Amino acid sequence: MTPKDFPTAIPQADPRAGYLVQRTAIDAALTRVFEGGVYILGREVEMFEAAFADYIGVSHAIGVGSGTDAIELALRASNIGAGDLVFTVSHTAVATVAAIERAGATAVLVDVEPGTYTMAPHELSRALRMTRPGRPAAVLPVHIYGQPAELSELAEIARVHDLRLIEDCAQSHGALYCGEPTGSFGDVACFSFYPTKNLGALGDGGMVVTSDPTLAVALREIREYGWRDRYVSARIGINSRLDAIQAAILGVKLRTLTADNARRQTIAARYDAGLAGLPLALPVRRPNATHVFHQYVIRLADRDALRNRLGASGVGTGIHYPVPVHRQPAYSGRLTCGPSGLGVTERAASQILSLPIYPQLMDEAVDRVIAEIRAFFT
Ligand SMILES: Cc1ncc(COP(=O)(O)O)c(C=O)c1O
Repeated sequence: MTPKDFPTAIPQADPRAGYLVQRTAIDAALTRVFEGGVYILGREVEMFEAAFADYIGVSHAIGVGSGTDAIELALRASNIGAGDLVFTVSHTAVATVAAIERAGATAVLVDVEPGTYTMAPHELSRALRMTRPGRPAAVLPVHIYGQPAELSELAEIARVHDLRLIEDCAQSHGALYCGEPTGSFGDVACFSFYPTKNLGALGDGGMVVTSDPTLAVALREIREYGWRDRYVSARIGINSRLDAIQAAILGVKLRTLTADNARRQTIAARYDAGLAGLPLALPVRRPNATHVFHQYVIRLADRDALRNRLGASGVGTGIHYPVPVHRQPAYSGRLTCGPSGLGVTERAASQILSLPIYPQLMDEAVDRVIAEIRAFFT
C-alpha cells in the first residue's frame, strides 16, 4: 500500500469543511449570482477586486483565471518575455516556473534558506553576478507555506540591479512582513485561490495586485483578449477572467480570512508545543514576519517511514513538494540555476512533511496527530 491508499480520517487539507462552515452565506451569494445573470467579470468581480485590494493595501486588484495565469499576466504586463531572465526558486509549485516560461522568459533558479525555504538573498546576489545569455529582468520570490521571503533584502537587490520585484503570494494571503501584507511590496504580486489555499475558491481563480496604474490597465487588457474597447484588441491578450461565482464565494470567505489565519497560527503553536523535543525540525519563523501557515512543515530524515505510519493511522499528510522543479521530467536538464547549485532545495525535498492544517481542524485532531508522531519515535 502507498500512503494514498490508506483511509484518511484526518485529511491534510479540507476545503469542504471551509464551505460547510459558511454554507448559508455562500449559498446566498451563489443565488444572488445565479439570479443576477452576469457570470463572467461584472459587478461581483469588481466588488471582490475592490475588497481584496483594500485587504492587501494596494490600489488595484485584477481577477484572473488562476494563480498560474496571474504570474504569466504579471510578467507580460511588465513587458517581460523572450530574452529576459526571471530569478525564482525551484522549491515551489511547478506553476511558478511554468508561468515564467509561458510568458516567454527564462527562469533562473536560486537556492533557498534552509530554515524558511524561501529565496536566499545572498544566493540571488551570486546568481546575478554570473554572466549568462539574457537580460536580468525580475526577481520572483515565493512566500512558501505562508511565510514571507526576506523581502527587504530581496527588494534592495532588485532596486540595485533595476529588476522588477514580482511576489508569488499563492500561499501567503494575509501574511505580514514588517507589519505589511505580502503582495504590497512588489511592483506586482500574484495570488492563487485554489480551493485549499488560505483564501480558497470552490474552483479555480487568481488575482494580480499592483499600485501601478499603467500595469493595472495592461493587466485588465491582457486578461481579456487585449481589449481596450469591447471587440477591439489594443494588444495581444488571452482569456483569463475570474468568474462571478468564484468572486462571490471569495467575497464571503475574505471576511473571515484574518480569523482563519489566526486559527492556523493557533494550530501551529499547538503542534510546536506537542512536538517539542522530538528528533525532527519544526517550522522556523522569521522574526520580522507573520507566518500564516498555509502549510505546517516538519523535517526529518525518516520522512517516508513517518508518513506511512501516519497514513496507516488515518492521518493525511502532504509533501510540498517532493520533486523540485529542476528535477521534474519536463524541466530536468534544461533549467539554469545559480552558481552554488540547489543543494538546500534538493535536501529539503527528501525530508519535508506537511501535517494536517486548516481552520476547521479541531484541537482533538491536532492532539491525535501529535500523539501518533510521538508514538512513532518511541
Ligand atoms: C507557490 C505557488 N505558485 C503558483 C501556484 C499556481 O496557482 P494555481 O494553481 O491557482 O494556478 C500555486 C498553487 O498551486 C502555488 O502554490
